[in-house]
Amino acid sequence: MRKKIVAGNWKMNKTFSQAEDLLFSIADRLQKDRPEDVTVVVFPPALYLELAKDVSTDNDFSFGAQNINEHESGAYTGEISAAMVQSIGAEYVILGHSERRQYFGENDNVIAEKIKLALSHELTPVYCCGEALEERENGHHFSVVESQINDALFGLEEDDFKRIVIAYEPVWAIGTGRTATPEQAQEMHAFIRNCVAAKFGKQAADMVSILYGGSCNAANAAELFANADVDGGLIGGASLKPDDFVAIVNSFPK
Ligand code: PGA
Repeated sequence: MRKKIVAGNWKMNKTFSQAEDLLFSIADRLQKDRPEDVTVVVFPPALYLELAKDVSTDNDFSFGAQNINEHESGAYTGEISAAMVQSIGAEYVILGHSERRQYFGENDNVIAEKIKLALSHELTPVYCCGEALEERENGHHFSVVESQINDALFGLEEDDFKRIVIAYEPVWAIGTGRTATPEQAQEMHAFIRNCVAAKFGKQAADMVSILYGGSCNAANAAELFANADVDGGLIGGASLKPDDFVAIVNSFPK
């Protein structure tokens, strides 16, 4: 069975003490209320990874970085490497987020480099893909997503691919309050799984977790997660509210 995952992408939010409060609040709620078969991952700003590690030691969530640099190490002021993230005990890294593509000029060639580096440091990449509004309106959403996963993921070996998580995040749904309908999400997730099956075989496709992201919240998570190919969510805004985040963790069909 593939993993069910709920991941919280905090983006550039929270001061140290606020981050501490949020981590403890999440941990506390998870201890009381949490299905055992759901993997919970938090992605705080890198500055707080060690804090996440300390809080998660006794509690049942994993943590990861929101980004890594595409180089192993060296003169890249301000950047954070895969080795650093690994050395702090993180297990995951978000790569290819639309905000990195849009504001930091990342394309799938750079993202592919980062994915290889992450895998070589035992980090699980959460690879984000998704079309812009105009692309959906023009009916190009399938071809856009297909070329994103082709360029970033299909240069991997089948064995490497086993350690990948995919997040479908339509850009028009991120931070907008406009969520994909459950039908739109299911349709695209099934399409992505078919692309993976065509490249790496049915077994690999059946094993890869595909998360939905984009204005997923406590009110709509259950109807999204009820779909056969939606294996959880990558949550932005709602991951900053502990009650909502843990409610999302508990939104899988029983
Ligand atoms: P959102 O962000 O839930 O605030 O729309 C999701 C994401 O960017 O990962």
